[in-house]
Amino acid sequence: MERTLVIIKPNAVQRELIGDIISRFEKRGLKIVAMKMIVITPELAKVHYQEHQAKDFYQPLIKFITSGPSVVIILEGDRAIEVVRKMCGATDPLDADPGTIRGDYGIRVRQNIIHASDSLSSAEREIALFFSTPELIDYKLAARPWI
Ligand code: RTP
Ligand code: MG
Repeated sequence: MERTLVIIKPNAVQRELIGDIISRFEKRGLKIVAMKMIVITPELAKVHYQEHQAKDFYQPLIKFITSGPSVVIILEGDRAIEVVRKMCGATDPLDADPGTIRGDYGIRVRQNIIHASDSLSSAEREIALFFSTPELIDYKLAARPWI
């Protein structure tokens, strides 16, 4: 069973899409292991997006992701990392298929609604960055065997 980190970005919170987005993950059969609303600090944003430090979009990215509340979620499920990335769609909403989160709710690449971990190592790193162990809730979902 894999775990992945999702960030519902500040523009999606402002556009009142939190419920729609979480609902998609619940219906797909992913389990919410942890969830909170936070304003991401510049310090945290810089560590989270450190791989993009040299890119031209880095400064705008840090400014955007810290511009208001985000909702941070850990999702668990079989192949959760790949499943969630596919549900998010391509980085640029113009390339994201209709039916994906970015393809349905976004237009601009720099305001593309959602973040999701892109590999096992990123997921482990990002989960540890945003959550402390006691924030992860251990519980059973009755429908799990039916997913
Ligand atoms: P994310 O990390 O947010 O899940 O997005 P991703 O893996 O699909 O894309 P990544 O390459 O990691 O880029 C991180 C975020 O930077 C913004 N971006 N802007 N050309 C641009 O202006 C540009 N390219 C990327 C996006 O908001 C992207 O989600
Ligand atoms: Mg990325």
